[in-house]
Amino acid sequence: MAGAAPIGIFDSGLGGLSVTAAVHRLLPAENLLFYGDSAYAPYGIKSPEQVRERCFTITDALVARGAKAIVVACNTATSVCVGDLRARYPIPIVGMEPALKPACDRDAGRPQRVIVAATPLTLKETKFARLLARFQADHTIWSQPCPDLVTILESGHLDDRDLVREALDRYLGPYDLSQVDSIVLGCTHFVFYRDYFREYCPPTVAVIDGNEGTARQLRKLLAGRGELGGGDPGSVSIGNSDPSPELAAYSRQLLERLS
Ligand code: DGL
Repeated sequence: MAGAAPIGIFDSGLGGLSVTAAVHRLLPAENLLFYGDSAYAPYGIKSPEQVRERCFTITDALVARGAKAIVVACNTATSVCVGDLRARYPIPIVGMEPALKPACDRDAGRPQRVIVAATPLTLKETKFARLLARFQADHTIWSQPCPDLVTILESGHLDDRDLVREALDRYLGPYDLSQVDSIVLGCTHFVFYRDYFREYCPPTVAVIDGNEGTARQLRKLLAGRGELGGGDPGSVSIGNSDPSPELAAYSRQLLERLS
């Protein structure tokens, strides 16, 4: 019965654990199979072809394990190939894109000033150009690549305040943040830095991500197909292309931080 089947969730690395936490909160009866591709991270500075190949390899493996749906918990991978994945697999494939719409919808539709923080590849892809085109006539939007926030998390230095602060200075220092309404965390790794962003910015700057929206979209698709799991408590299993026990322990810790 499809309802009891697991949901596959993957990312270039550990960022997708933030999405996994959001899905687990919203759908606690589901069994989640998370796969991080840390051995191949970061995706955000790779070619679209390299990213596409990894996404198909990982999705093939999750589908072979019986996944009833896939969450591409990576804005970069979604930008590159969510359409190709949907064309290949007959199950729901939920992608992610920077949460620019919720950012622009704030304040009763009044013009917003928004920084979109994402990977270089997400910001380069046509999917983002199309998203930007929907909003830039009415709002002021800055695109800010922040690749080091991916590598800092992957290398286990999330709690190194000086290192993170120095990266935020480089990326956000040039902006007059008193003139900014919100920052969109357009990369799932960045959600782990939410408190740093909050601390760095004046309290008038909202920090927005798309994780809850993604979890709700998944629930809607599964409900529409009558495939929501029910009854017993669900589980979260974590796999990674880097098989080290240290990474497995670190992944669990990261998941727990957001649970
Ligand atoms: N977590 C990913 C995203 O949401 C990408 C990070 C990377 O590998 O560069 O875009």
